[in-house]
Amino acid sequence: MPFYTDRVLNGSAVAKVIRSEVADGVKELAKKHRAPRLVVLLVGEDPASKIYVGNKTKACAEVGIDGETVELPASTPQEELLERIESLNEDDSVDGILVQLPLPEGHDVAQLQWTVSPDKDVDGLHPINAGKLWQDQDCFVPCTPAGIIEMLERREFEMAGRHAVVVGRSAIVGKPMAALLLRQNCTVTVCHSRTKSLEETCREADILVAAVGQVGLIGPNHVQAGAVVIDVGMNRLTERRQIDHYYPGDEKRRRAFEKKGSVLIGDVDFTRVLPKASAITPVPGGVGPLTIAMLMVNTLESAKRRLQRTKGD
Ligand code: GUN
Repeated sequence: MPFYTDRVLNGSAVAKVIRSEVADGVKELAKKHRAPRLVVLLVGEDPASKIYVGNKTKACAEVGIDGETVELPASTPQEELLERIESLNEDDSVDGILVQLPLPEGHDVAQLQWTVSPDKDVDGLHPINAGKLWQDQDCFVPCTPAGIIEMLERREFEMAGRHAVVVGRSAIVGKPMAALLLRQNCTVTVCHSRTKSLEETCREADILVAAVGQVGLIGPNHVQAGAVVIDVGMNRLTERRQIDHYYPGDEKRRRAFEKKGSVLIGDVDFTRVLPKASAITPVPGGVGPLTIAMLMVNTLESAKRRLQRTKGD
């Protein structure tokens, strides 16, 4: 459908530009100090997490960040994870620490997030950073919502005064997304599983962000004509009849499904929403690459701030 192609927001292309800017910043920092260093803790065998972490490490290598993944078995006790985080906090050569989510059953996620030093919390999930975000103070911001704002700003999309509806209230996307849109002077509504009139509320949105993790959650009846639709969902279709329903006549996706046994899909019924939206992010190739690019931005920023601080001592 070539007519619509300019409506599709190419997150991969924006992410590439951001990564190249980070690469320049890394070069400059390495000349006077050293390259930034990011350590990712990957606990357990979640296959999706392994792919995400692999992509993060690849992005680090591309921009010149020293990226390291510490792989630990699902049986690793909470105490050991806490000790590892504490030792990374104290290690002066580490600029960023990230605990990949979800963690295997039995771990106290909040306790781990509280333990990461707020100065190295490149995921922006420490409550100090989360609190600062709502008070408009300088802080690390979670990468997915930060990437969405970055993309909208780079497209010079006017956000002030628009009605933004965020569907989903997670600590990693929904809540920080709402805070950032508010910071952009949007009027913000947050919807969730107990929202009574999801369809009507979404239909009032000029900017609609779907971040729930539910296939087909947002259909054409949820979307006002001309709205900007941002799809944060990352789900898998594993049945042929689903592919036929969500991507009728899409031979490329059908072949991908036949080869791999599944295809990625967001929370938005892309095929049916596309004709109504003025702009929409695809899955894959929309929000995902932006998340990783912003992790690179946060890690570089952390290294620069830490250097500034030591100079000031
Ligand atoms: N799992 C999926 N996305 C993310 C992310 O942005 N950060 C962390 N820590 N885990 C995730």
